[in-house]
Amino acid sequence: MAFVVTENCIKCKFTDCVDVCPVDCFHEGPNFLVIDPDECIDCTLCEPECPANAIFAEDEVPDDQHQFIALNAELSKKWPSITDVKDALPEADDWNGKEHKAQYLEK
Ligand code: SF4
Ligand code: F3S
Repeated sequence: MAFVVTENCIKCKFTDCVDVCPVDCFHEGPNFLVIDPDECIDCTLCEPECPANAIFAEDEVPDDQHQFIALNAELSKKWPSITDVKDALPEADDWNGKEHKAQYLEK
């Protein structure tokens, strides 16, 4: 199993999650982060750190977010690693909690 970043990270990218990951398995795209499922050790530390509540254990990903399991696996092989916290995206607070953000995912 692994942990998975889901839709509400899009256009927010708070990055608090990367600060606690002991194995540096987060990868960064233009407006979204993903977790490499081959590196994640299921330590659970990142899940409560996300201000957008975007991180779930794979078996707890909501039904309408299942596409993000494959997206984390795919994009983590393509995007560079991120290990340091950085500023959230400029309108992160406005986008936090908005529905139907998948259409804005930049790959
Ligand atoms: Fe990293 Fe642990 Fe989160 Fe997996 S569960 S991404 S190992 S902090
Ligand atoms: Fe995204 Fe939450 Fe991390 S918004 S960047 S998963 S802290």
